Amino acid sequence: MKPESIQHIAFIMDGNGRWATARGMDRSKGHRAGMEALERIVMACSERKLPYISFYAFSTENWKRPAREIRAIFLLMEYFFRRRMKDLASQNIRILISGDWSALPTRSREIAARCIRETAQCTGTTVNLCMNYGGQMEIRRACALWAARCQQSGEFSIPDESEMQELLYSGLPDVDLMIRTGGDHRVSNFLLYQMAYAELFFSDIAWPDFSPGDLDSILQQFENRDRRLGGLSLAAQSAAQ
Ligand code: FPP
Repeated sequence: MKPESIQHIAFIMDGNGRWATARGMDRSKGHRAGMEALERIVMACSERKLPYISFYAFSTENWKRPAREIRAIFLLMEYFFRRRMKDLASQNIRILISGDWSALPTRSREIAARCIRETAQCTGTTVNLCMNYGGQMEIRRACALWAARCQQSGEFSIPDESEMQELLYSGLPDVDLMIRTGGDHRVSNFLLYQMAYAELFFSDIAWPDFSPGDLDSILQQFENRDRRLGGLSLAAQSAAQ
């Protein structure tokens, strides 16, 4: 099932490290299991014809982690693109990357760029992988791009909604539903601008264990949320008339 009102789901894939530690394994094994969960959820979203999904794969703050763990995450990303590129294209899934990925290792950048090219014509689900991404950085970057445009035109204005979309990394619609696994209740600098009216769901399940069934259960709960988007609910509107 797919609630018709959902355009964009954002996932904070938290809990990989704790999942591995609880099993006496190295944290990198948790990320490996996390990548497999990501693959399952991408396919589930594609089957449910969800148009846009974003994943927080590496934040601007994740550079504080040990070099070995950072390297393991980039290697997994490379592995995912190499192993899945053909499947993604044949499932009509388009890949985008948000964030300053110029800071990634050359090999990661090359394989990511190839995957973006090879899936560019796909019209099904768009998967937005956020790599070296930070919401505050994205907004600061948009301000700088806009300031440069204003300087060039000699006119000062505030960007309208569609101009703002162009200034952000991906240009995807605002997030309708944000799902964070791993038990913490925060947004951790993820898609700050796009999440203005997102419904937030927090799950105690560690990301490697998050399943398509868990997604369906959240989609069902989402349908029962009263999304007023700053307006009134239908009942309140008719009472006010
Ligand atoms: C957060 O869990 C997870 C990350 C910082 C990395 C997520 C990366 C992947 C799932 C693999 C990347 C794969 C692709 C295809 C891009 P945590 O490590 O903070 O968990 P913890 O809170 O339990 O320590």
